Amino acid sequence: MSDNPLANLFANNKAWSESMHAENPEFFSRLVNQQSPEYLWIGCSDSRVPANQIIGLAPGEVFVHRNIGNVVVHTDLNALSVIHYAVEMLRVKHILVVGHYGCGGVKAALYDNRTGLTDNWLRHVQDVRDRHDAIIAAIEDANERVNRLCELNAMQQVVNVCQTSVLREAWARGQSVTVHGWCYSLENGLINDLKVSANSREEAMERYRDAVEAMR
Ligand code: CO
Repeated sequence: MSDNPLANLFANNKAWSESMHAENPEFFSRLVNQQSPEYLWIGCSDSRVPANQIIGLAPGEVFVHRNIGNVVVHTDLNALSVIHYAVEMLRVKHILVVGHYGCGGVKAALYDNRTGLTDNWLRHVQDVRDRHDAIIAAIEDANERVNRLCELNAMQQVVNVCQTSVLREAWARGQSVTVHGWCYSLENGLINDLKVSANSREEAMERYRDAVEAMR
């Protein structure tokens, strides 16, 4: 027996590689030569929200960016680079901004729970909370309050994506790319479409306003 504490991962990997190859002998050689995903997934780092599995896509089919609380900030060079590469190089057709109910980051932001360094990152979610103070305060159940902020946060991040120079320039040159806002349920594995899909910055703002209005 190996004393490598990660031996099980290498064993899993070997078995996976073999089964993929058995299923389709060209699987890896095809992916080596190019990736042409139609989707960019921007989601939470939470281990229970794996992009590919949830939407049933194979390697090569979805470009992924994840961080705590699925936040898109205009000064985040990492997120902006991913969006830029996805839109300009890979020419994805859809950007999926995916929050999830029961998000620990959103919960910490909502209740001002101190977590250390992450507090600074979650300030962005607190901005969303403060903007929609009345909607959240009107909800009595603590978990529902968190879940509502999970939705509002994902909706805000859709607007943020639509306001990036990358999307504005893509739309200005007539490129077809739609930004969507979803919220995933850990309880039943289903995605809730937040109905804020947009093909322009103006549409994003309009959809966002309508969706917020519907929550009042
Ligand atoms: Co989360």
